[in-house]
Amino acid sequence: MERVPVERVLAALFSSEQQERFCLDCMGFLLVVIAGVTFVALLFENVPYGRYASSRFGFPVPGKVAWFVQELPALLVPLALVLGTPAARTARLPNLLLVAMYFCHYVQRSLVYPFLIRGGKATPFASFVLAVVFCMYNGYMQVRYLSRYAEFPAGWVTHPCFIIGSALWFVGWLVNLHSDHILRNLRQPGETGYKIPRGGVFEYVSGANFLGEITEWAGFALAGCSVQSASFALFTLVVLASRAVAHHRWYLSKFEDYPKSRKALIPFVF
Ligand SMILES: NC(=O)c1ccc[n+]([C@@H]2O[C@H](COP(=O)([O-])OP(=O)(O)OC[C@H]3O[C@@H](n4cnc5c(N)ncnc54)[C@H](OP(=O)(O)O)[C@@H]3O)[C@@H](O)[C@H]2O)c1
Repeated sequence: MERVPVERVLAALFSSEQQERFCLDCMGFLLVVIAGVTFVALLFENVPYGRYASSRFGFPVPGKVAWFVQELPALLVPLALVLGTPAARTARLPNLLLVAMYFCHYVQRSLVYPFLIRGGKATPFASFVLAVVFCMYNGYMQVRYLSRYAEFPAGWVTHPCFIIGSALWFVGWLVNLHSDHILRNLRQPGETGYKIPRGGVFEYVSGANFLGEITEWAGFALAGCSVQSASFALFTLVVLASRAVAHHRWYLSKFEDYPKSRKALIPFVF
């Protein structure tokens, strides 16, 4: 039978399903290593975008354009995989639900979020390119694994790991959306400065949007129980915890009236 283009690309890359499955596991372990290296690097330098953007990391890509283009592969690569290959495992309920969680996040992140940004800083070219590469890498790893290879025990959707993980994913997603909404509304159209975020989870932590996203992917990892989902959750934790701590310090240094009881990332604790 005539192969569609996506299948031809995969057939050129992998000689067998076993080889691709092995590669997907290696990608998961490699992302754990990358998370470790990133953790060390972030002890010395903030991720250079937003308020920490710097011309040392290349020419500025306008904020909305950068977010739209860099996040789009996280949607298009998985779409091509699901529509362009026999993604047989999506017929199974746990696989289908996990793929749906992934798409739910990235439809919003790539097609909605960029167009809602108000006065966002330009992203340095190096950060932009790294984000594009990460979105392709992770999009392929998550959705190819779930749609083609992941096998869950019978009744997995009623297992506590799946139920608690899915609930965490959903709560985290809502907190992330609500917190990004609060940040956006701190600025009137045309404004670019910073104000103290108030309301929602920001009453407890400076990195409310980051706490939401970390919770989201930790829940996804619990529900999916794979090296692919766990490594993504770990990478997200490393990047966004560092960003939450940096933002917290930044707020304390800029605003004398910054709420003293507010923590960086974990309410009442840290
Ligand atoms: N999964 C992952 O690994 C990962 C990695 C990175 C980001 N993300 C997600 O992507 C989203 C955006 O991340 P981000 O790092 O850009 O978040 P951010 O630094 O909190 O900024 C989000 C937006 O709000 C604006 N903003 C932030 N604080 C503000 C304040 N105090 N007053 C007025 N405007 C303010 C920013 O403008 P400026 O651009 O002008 O600062 C930016 O447009 C978040 O939901 C995050 O969870 C996920």
